[in-house]
Amino acid sequence: MAKILVTGGTGYIGSHTVVELQQSGYDVVIIDNLANSSEKIVEQITKITGIKPEFHKMDLCDRNKLFTFFENNKDIKGVIHFAAYKAVGESAEFPLKYYYNNLFSLVNLLEAMQKAECNNLVFSSSCTIYGQPEELPVSENAPIQQAMSPYGNTKQISEEIIVDQTKTSSLHAIALRYFNPIGAHKTALIGELPLGVPNNLIPFVTQTAIGKREKLRVFGNDYNTPDGTAVRDYIHVVDLAKAHVVALERMSSKKSESKFEAFNIGTGNGNSVLDVILTFEKVNNLKVNYEIVERRAGDVEQVWANTDKANKVLGWKTELGLDVALQSAWNWEKNLEKGILE
Ligand code: NAD
Ligand code: UFG
Repeated sequence: MAKILVTGGTGYIGSHTVVELQQSGYDVVIIDNLANSSEKIVEQITKITGIKPEFHKMDLCDRNKLFTFFENNKDIKGVIHFAAYKAVGESAEFPLKYYYNNLFSLVNLLEAMQKAECNNLVFSSSCTIYGQPEELPVSENAPIQQAMSPYGNTKQISEEIIVDQTKTSSLHAIALRYFNPIGAHKTALIGELPLGVPNNLIPFVTQTAIGKREKLRVFGNDYNTPDGTAVRDYIHVVDLAKAHVVALERMSSKKSESKFEAFNIGTGNGNSVLDVILTFEKVNNLKVNYEIVERRAGDVEQVWANTDKANKVLGWKTELGLDVALQSAWNWEKNLEKGILE
């Protein structure tokens, strides 16, 4: 069983990926400082898979601890690096917090990996690097646009740092550029855990439906889209998690065509905010209280993925639709309300 390090493994996408890795036969070690997650997630993962992942509460910015960890774990065959701060709005308010955490943790990780001769990395990137693309669906060859937030900039800079490191070391890396991850595991034992008022659409929808929020605000209905609301490519988090397993396998079986590769990980379909609300209402048989308000600053009008490269080269494609994702998000919200993590 190959041993894989998952940084940020108690977080939203990380926890789902740990489950998929374990179920594919990998031995998983998690490092997370719990800045945006809970140690209870380790138990939840264990409930799903029957295997307790090794967990280390550690800040990746702590170089010495990280180096010692790698010295003691020389058998790690690959790393999936999720750990980062991700709130776009907060990053505009506290840019240094984002540059420090997201970039120092990456630099430390790359250095520790090099020392330990651990040469396979999967990195969490984002479609935010494309800004508002001129051509839709957007492919990996689209130009990277000036970042609209410090958070987005950390993803661009991180990709550049990784590219440079692959040029001068034995590192192989795959950047997965996620579109909009949503939903929860079918067991409803893990899911998204927004701290405070959610920024993202789906947790705001589920919290409004359950009565935690009075009203969902739909940011703008005057976009140049079929119903006027903004369009995104919403991908089920379990499909996204599976892409990480495939990416690791590509590197460990030496199939990479170059030392750095990037793949769009989306469904290939665009859905508007109103599509999401209506689908959520339909599949869960309930109503969501919402109103149309002004556009949100910094939002792009529409973006969805060209997934040809991931489909053909990676041999990965999505299997779960928007309806299944929105049902799972609701089941997870109901479990949270019941106090599943308390
Ligand atoms: P998340 O906040 O749920 O998970 C990130 C985890 O990293 C958290 O558990 C947090 O405690 C941990 N962490 C943060 N800084 C750390 C540090 N210095 N040391 C150790 N642990 C640290 O976020 P997520 O939604 O699971 O996102 C995972 C990754 O995917 C992030 O890199 C994020 O930027 C990227 N991403 C997310 C989205 C999205 O919409 N969720 C979209 C595109 C890209
Ligand atoms: N929206 C609302 N009301 C809300 C929240 C969101 O109308 O309360 C709208 C937004 O305006 C946008 C759409 O729903 O049109 C999706 O918004 P999200 O905040 O859920 O997602 P974004 O596309 O803005 O950004 C997300 C992550 C970023 C990541 C990006 C691409 O937050 O970190 O996807 O992966 F970079």
